[in-house]
Amino acid sequence: MDRYLVTGANGCIGAWTVAQLAGEGAAVVALDASDDLHRLRLLLDDDTLAGLARVQGDITDLAALEQTIDEHAITHVIHLAALQVPFCRADPPLGAQVNVVGTVNVFEAVARRQDRMGPIVYASSVAAYDALDDTTTGAAMEGVPSTLYGVFKRANEGTASVYAAEQGIASVGLRPHTVYGPGRDQGVTSAPTTAMLHAAAGLPYELPFGGAYQLQYAPDVVLAADYEDIHDSWLSGRASRRLESRRSHACDPTLERRQGSARVSPGQGPLRDSRLDRLAPPLAARGPYRVHRS
Ligand SMILES: NC(=O)c1ccc[n+]([C@@H]2O[C@H](COP(=O)([O-])OP(=O)(O)OC[C@H]3O[C@@H](n4cnc5c(N)ncnc54)[C@H](O)[C@@H]3O)[C@@H](O)[C@H]2O)c1
Repeated sequence: MDRYLVTGANGCIGAWTVAQLAGEGAAVVALDASDDLHRLRLLLDDDTLAGLARVQGDITDLAALEQTIDEHAITHVIHLAALQVPFCRADPPLGAQVNVVGTVNVFEAVARRQDRMGPIVYASSVAAYDALDDTTTGAAMEGVPSTLYGVFKRANEGTASVYAAEQGIASVGLRPHTVYGPGRDQGVTSAPTTAMLHAAAGLPYELPFGGAYQLQYAPDVVLAADYEDIHDSWLSGRASRRLESRRSHACDPTLERRQGSARVSPGQGPLRDSRLDRLAPPLAARGPYRVHRS
């Protein structure tokens, strides 16, 4: 039986991923270092949340990660735990520990059990692309990202490549752009979601950055991963998995990165207003998120 471990399950994309899997009736284990369940509460009904297997754990602790995988007989890891740009900027060594070492730990834990585990799905980021300058016309991977967070994400992609080449560990890395929607409430690029909430509440809000922008709706990022396809292609190549390991970027944005589109500078933080909190219950009242496939 397939059993999914979602790291960073309490985060925005993590909560949407858990909601999708739970909605499909899949066995899912939610791992996060934090015990803050507000995003899961937004997307899951009380019964689903009460029945959800949750582990409070830290991906920088390889032994604990392995214990979770074994105790819950995990077959697939969806790796979303990370520290976002402001946290990496505030504490680069911690950022590297979580985003780089934590990701190595995920690959290592799976590699040690590769006979019984499917491909890893993990989040890279649009931030992994080169920093923009005045001459930039497209997304490139030849120079250096503009943030340490982006450098760490690129290290994740390199980690995936080497684990595929040396040990046959299959993985799919996604590079989401700016995610918006319910649950997107931290990180520099959460500002568009904050602006939408303010607009809905009739409150003023000034975006701390400007320029052309690409946004991805949080549940669409989850759907882009299309776990069934990943799983099926893995199954069909199972016999020669070591040779056929692949790494793709299902969510690789074919960006037209116009000048300034990704120049994000920290400015005035999101306006905090208790009236915004009252917008959450109507969303929760919709019940658990369901996937509708056409
Ligand atoms: N949100 C975006 O716009 C965006 C864009 C591109 C890529 N991504 C990537 O997608 C993934 C998910 O992003 P998100 O928006 O859900 O982020 P988020 O900040 O909402 O959630 C991240 C979660 O990881 C958890 N976490 C942090 N350190 C941990 C640790 N050491 N061990 C276990 N859990 C830990 C946090 O508690 C948090 O719940 C991340 O890898 C992020 O870098 C996000």
